[in-house]
Amino acid sequence: MCGIVGYIGHKEAQQILIGGLKRLEYRGYDSAGVATMDKNAKTTLLRSKGKVTELEARAQTHKTKDTVGIGHTRWATHGEPSKRNAHPHHVGDIYLVHNGIIENYQDLKHMLAKHDYIFKSDTDSEVLAALIDYLNKDTSTLLEAVTGALKMVVGAYGIALFSVKDPNEIIIARKGSPLIVGIAEGEVFIASDASALVGHTDRVIYLHDSEIGVCSREGIQLYDLDAQVVDAEVEKLELDLQAIQKEGFDHFLLKEIYEQPASLRSTLSGRINVKTNSVKLGGVNMSDDELRDIRNIMIVGCGTAYYAGMMAGYFIEQFTDDITIRSEVASELRYRSFHVPDNTVALIVSQSGETADTLACLQELKRRGVKCLGIVNAVGSTIAREVDGGVYVHVGAEISVASTKAFTSQVAAITMFGLMVAQAKGASVKALNTYVKELYLLPGEIEAVLENTSTEIKKIAKEYARFEHALYVGRDTQFPIALEGALKLKEVGYIQAEGYAAGELKHGPIALIDDRFFEVYFLQDNWLYEKSQSNLIEMNARGAHAVVITNTDKRISAEKVVRIKTKLEILTPMVFNVVSQLLAYYIAVARGNDVDQPRNLAKSVTVE
Ligand code: AGP
Repeated sequence: MCGIVGYIGHKEAQQILIGGLKRLEYRGYDSAGVATMDKNAKTTLLRSKGKVTELEARAQTHKTKDTVGIGHTRWATHGEPSKRNAHPHHVGDIYLVHNGIIENYQDLKHMLAKHDYIFKSDTDSEVLAALIDYLNKDTSTLLEAVTGALKMVVGAYGIALFSVKDPNEIIIARKGSPLIVGIAEGEVFIASDASALVGHTDRVIYLHDSEIGVCSREGIQLYDLDAQVVDAEVEKLELDLQAIQKEGFDHFLLKEIYEQPASLRSTLSGRINVKTNSVKLGGVNMSDDELRDIRNIMIVGCGTAYYAGMMAGYFIEQFTDDITIRSEVASELRYRSFHVPDNTVALIVSQSGETADTLACLQELKRRGVKCLGIVNAVGSTIAREVDGGVYVHVGAEISVASTKAFTSQVAAITMFGLMVAQAKGASVKALNTYVKELYLLPGEIEAVLENTSTEIKKIAKEYARFEHALYVGRDTQFPIALEGALKLKEVGYIQAEGYAAGELKHGPIALIDDRFFEVYFLQDNWLYEKSQSNLIEMNARGAHAVVITNTDKRISAEKVVRIKTKLEILTPMVFNVVSQLLAYYIAVARGNDVDQPRNLAKSVTVE
């Protein structure tokens, strides 16, 4: 989604801002811009449609030495992607960048038009700039105008702005859209995502909702919406340059697929103990009595996070008999008249910790008094701060839009939570033994699969990249990974892909099978093998172009069979999923797609 950067200090702002915008590219965007100001309040505004490199090329011919500036990457909501709709917006004395959506912008626009404001863009953001400019005509400080404007708007915002009336100040504010401030000697860096701050400083302040910051070379002062001073907490940024570089891989997506053994180890580290077959999650903040009382686990997320919840739910059901699990798509749940039974704990799953729909569910569940725990990656993110406790998955920065290592670790974290509940309920060590042992083995098993299958998958991908349609099929614990696999192929391969439960094929989707489709079939050699195999046979009889991913040695008839050797039983789908990630990646590469920043997508979906 949209990205914000800002800088005030003694260095040339333009280069710092463009560098910051490049770091935010992974979030997805369609236009970019920067505005800078010198000490005499002379401004330079550059905007362009398309990639940040276009903006950078423009900056080559419009270089400035200005030391104050703001920048933005825009993911279009109101109005098409164009230079005209790109940020920063300039109205009167004000230059402003905005993430989020101003819901009542039409009413405000109408009011401002009566005061002779003429709008050059289709955006809600320009209206906010105009509103601040309008109010600033009668206020003694810009802060007063900003607080006044923010009290009038309905919606979500992360903003950074400056006025030509004061060349030594940038004002920022947030509500429902993240903003982080980096502090250094005589400098303040502003960003909507920590990756833009790496290398500049590791002293950061995460803005809370309804806080406003006045940034100058002396530092930052925070206020609330009534312009009352608020204390700021300076924290250490735990993100290094290495984490946001490709390090020899062609794409972040491939790097992150290969990082999974290490990232999963860091999720599990200090939390599972194979000697005692036990699990301890420090951040859950629940006593054994409270854990014992849990009867329902509600898992909420979007996209891959939702599928991770579903996958872990399948596992947890196997080792607990008095817990009902439900996995919910946050964008649906938030508007449903859903019921929450007593003794429910909600797990809020989000890599970014900023997904708007997931956050809205968290807020609604908290309003109803439901205990909410976060399964989050981004430290300090909004969801991480608003939950009652939780588990950081600690996979490091996930830059590629397509989520891979987060999925694997979300499944592990939720499963560990289930194990901890089962432990508290008195499940025998023996009953949990296999799960704890397999979680412990999983990183090594993923390592082996990456090493042994990558070349084969690359070859298959080249051959199957010609298809425009795909069916991903699996039964039982293979079903969530069929859904996740299809999602990966859609987003990076731009191939229409459906994920289906094997037993559902005959209820409709089998009609799709023809020469335009290929099928990915997850076939685990377990107690359901015979049943799953007969679905495969039925597909083959109708001319399927099936790629079977399996751990069996038995004879299988299919166009391609990828055989995985693994010590795992229960967690086998987790290694199948890694094969499926590789398949989507290599197909995307073979089709020449923009693997890390797929079209129309954003890394973190901070608007509905
Ligand atoms: C996954 O590949 C997607 N890009 C997307 O479905 C993602 O998982 C979803 O938007 C949820 O994001 P979150 O984990 O940051 O909340």
